Amino acid sequence: MRALVRSETGDLDTYDLKADFELPPLDEGQVLVKVFTTSVNPIDSLRRRIMLTVIGGPPDVFPVVDGYDLCGEVVRVGPGAEKFSVGQKVFGNMQRQPHRPQQFGAWAEYANVYEDTIAALPEGLDPAIAGCVGVTFGTCIEAVERSDPASTRSVLITGGAGGVGSAMVQIAKHVLNSEFIAATASTSKVEEVGRIGANKVVDYKTTDLVQALEGNKFDFILDTVGEGEKCLTLLAEDGKYVQLTGAAARDPRATFLLHGGKTNYYERLSPYLASGKMKPIIHQVVPFAEYKRAIELAESGGTMGKIVMEIARS
Ligand SMILES: NC(=O)c1ccc[n+]([C@@H]2O[C@H](COP(=O)([O-])OP(=O)(O)OC[C@H]3O[C@@H](n4cnc5c(N)ncnc54)[C@H](OP(=O)(O)O)[C@@H]3O)[C@@H](O)[C@H]2O)c1
Repeated sequence: MRALVRSETGDLDTYDLKADFELPPLDEGQVLVKVFTTSVNPIDSLRRRIMLTVIGGPPDVFPVVDGYDLCGEVVRVGPGAEKFSVGQKVFGNMQRQPHRPQQFGAWAEYANVYEDTIAALPEGLDPAIAGCVGVTFGTCIEAVERSDPASTRSVLITGGAGGVGSAMVQIAKHVLNSEFIAATASTSKVEEVGRIGANKVVDYKTTDLVQALEGNKFDFILDTVGEGEKCLTLLAEDGKYVQLTGAAARDPRATFLLHGGKTNYYERLSPYLASGKMKPIIHQVVPFAEYKRAIELAESGGTMGKIVMEIARS
């Protein structure tokens, strides 16, 4: 099968699009998925550049196939796997909990996927959408599950224009029914973050976050940027602060999240995605053969929205 294989850490030249890569046999609890779509997340680039030992993961055993998000079709069921049958379409995140990066991820025509990290694809949901929500929307659902669901009336999201941030804005609006949603974004993205549901968008390029939100105390803060002290200043006394990046805050209200996929996250998201109430912002769908362009676009920082890689038509 075709797979984007990497045998070392480094730049984009470390990838080799092999035509004849072979996966190992299915492990206990895995299914073989024919991949339709996947996407590029910051974790893919971080892993390629420096391995994930920096955030507590084990060292990579090469060769590695990157790619966490996926949407595809089950073509074989492994030993002990019982949730899905052959022919069923699925989506999710290949990352298992606790944090253990898969050696052979989704940037390939087929992937061995633990069935507890994926869910059934809702009827009619576009694989381009389903193939780029596993990490971003999944992380937000996991973060929300760590909050007190009864007290998410006011929510602050740093990095509201990013894949995770823009998912959290929508989840705050549609799933949590939050009354006040604030987010940060750079100048050109302020309007779009307001359009998807933020009541107040702070332009972090020109405005200080704490000054702009003076007088507000937030029940729940998702920090995708690493604002640390600023977020703690804006957090309610009994609020919850979930950090995804930066130095872990020493505050009992703070938790640092290392996300992994779980079936129930995607099942919870499915009705919202299927009805179109929530959807990821997609910048471009790029054919697999143009993987370099896809990864460069995602790493450029200049775009807004996910870069989806299409590996096969559904
Ligand atoms: N711990 C975990 O389990 C976990 C899970 C998912 C993601 N993450 C991490 O979370 C971060 C965000 O992920 P992502 O997928 O959303 O990345 P992304 O799609 O690349 O978005 C990053 C966003 O950060 C914004 N940004 C950069 N500096 C900022 C600042 N000072 N203030 C406000 N916004 C700023 C950028 O906005 P502009 O373009 O407007 O500048 C961009 O939209 C990454 O570091 C990722 O590795 C961690």
